[in-house]
Amino acid sequence: MTNRTFTMIKPDAVEAGNTGAIIKLIEEAGFQIVALKKTQLTPAQAGKFYAVHSARPFYNDLCAYMSSGAIVPMILEKDNAVADFRTLIGATNPAQAAEGTIRKLFAKSIEANAIHGSDSDENAAIEGSFFFAQTEQF
Ligand code: CMP
Repeated sequence: MTNRTFTMIKPDAVEAGNTGAIIKLIEEAGFQIVALKKTQLTPAQAGKFYAVHSARPFYNDLCAYMSSGAIVPMILEKDNAVADFRTLIGATNPAQAAEGTIRKLFAKSIEANAIHGSDSDENAAIEGSFFFAQTEQF
């Protein structure tokens, strides 16, 4: 059982005006918002955040895309947060995402896929601290 995960609403979903609708689904699924802000990454910051993918063919495009507009990072709290949040957002590729998931509802493509969700407790802590100090968290 884990208590916290990290997410960010990506530039495609923020630009499309879907921030509020996505946060509503997150809260309705039982997640509490521990920290939230609206910001924009530089290409270098996006590269650092996604460094684990630096050998992948999509890395340069991903960094350009993730720094192309505003994002809304959040730390969320719930029992079993990491696994339950990944169920809520659905598969990375929206074409494979289950009905009712955030990516099925809002993602435009495998790259512009509306939202990120941490894949482990360890990465949730690392990714959360990338954007938020302890003093910004409830
Ligand atoms: P995310 O869950 O944030 O983690 C890595 C991101 O890389 C992923 O969401 C997508 O935005 C992007 N991504 C993953 N696979 C591909 C791919 N095959 N082509 C393009 N972008 C991808």
